[in-house]
Amino acid sequence: MRIKGRDWRTIWLEDDGCSVGVIDQRKLPHFLHIHIIRSLEDAVEAISQMVVRGAPLIGVTGAYGLMLALQKDASDASLDFAYKNLVSSRPTAINLNWALSRVREHVINLPLHLRAEAAKEEAQEIAEEDVLICEEIGEQGLLVLKQINAEKQREQQGKPLNVLTHCNAGWLAAVDWGTALAPVYKAHRTGMNLHVWVDETRPRNQGASLTAYELGCEGIPHTVIVDNAGGHLMQHGQVDVVIVGSDRTTKTGDVCNKIGTYLKALAAFDNSVPFYVALPGSTIDWSVLDGLQEIPIETRSEIEVLEIEGHSENDEIVRVRLCPSQSKGFNPAFDVTPSKLITGLITEKGVCAASESGLKSLYLK
Ligand code: MRU
Repeated sequence: MRIKGRDWRTIWLEDDGCSVGVIDQRKLPHFLHIHIIRSLEDAVEAISQMVVRGAPLIGVTGAYGLMLALQKDASDASLDFAYKNLVSSRPTAINLNWALSRVREHVINLPLHLRAEAAKEEAQEIAEEDVLICEEIGEQGLLVLKQINAEKQREQQGKPLNVLTHCNAGWLAAVDWGTALAPVYKAHRTGMNLHVWVDETRPRNQGASLTAYELGCEGIPHTVIVDNAGGHLMQHGQVDVVIVGSDRTTKTGDVCNKIGTYLKALAAFDNSVPFYVALPGSTIDWSVLDGLQEIPIETRSEIEVLEIEGHSENDEIVRVRLCPSQSKGFNPAFDVTPSKLITGLITEKGVCAASESGLKSLYLK
């Protein structure tokens, strides 16, 4: 996608072949900084500190992290150590596990001197595939948006299609295009008149900072709202469709995504607003039946709740305390939306019901 007229991806292999460049997402939207990952330790830190975030992107970063570990030491012990450290750096998004397993399986039977190069090729392939998959999610989601927009235009001609999204599931969460926002970008490029309600997404505010930034770069009309405003807007007919991403999708179609997604799904259900989840096949965890019981929910530092970060008049990023000094915070980072609240899943293979048979009809033909 474009920032000030230049095409960007969120992650790339540097020309030296042994370091990885990423956009530092902790600094957006105020500063566009490049962060260089040079070692396994750097990769683990970049994922856990959310220099990079979003399910597809942490998968790709993990794959490059294994490459960096093998460039230093290609032994089985090194591969094992790197895998364990990377996979535990963020426990909820299954893409990380998926990408790491894919690189590990690709190199494990190779002689040691070939492993690092093979890991590099596989990581690059995962990154390239991610771009194609997300673009296809965009095409599939465009069909959904066109249909909903056609219905809206019959009743309210000339009015923009109002899309609500939560967190950031745009191109910053992937290598390019994104998942939930890919259909929005496609629709905008076809000339559809649309407007996006952007949930700020406390506590880290990925909506207010990253989604708003992305949409702004593409010139897409959008309005940032507090997380609690969505239900009110739906009650007043101001949301035509909700589209969110997924960090882990169970085989039965439950969706684990950024904390607060479940409340949006409940409000959408109560107000008959279509609620779609956009996801690549790599977020499906075929081993999980019951999302509520089986998906590990990452708990992050209470500091993210008790404090807030912003841009000061001195052009610096500053943190300030919101709560009384003695108050404690609790910070579960994801929740699970049951499939019964989901209108459909938008995947690179097509749109299906949020159910085991729906997913199988696309992926296990
Ligand atoms: O904690 P984050 O910022 O990594 O969470 C991101 C999300 O919840 C996204 O909605 C999800 O990864 C889907 S990304 C395309």
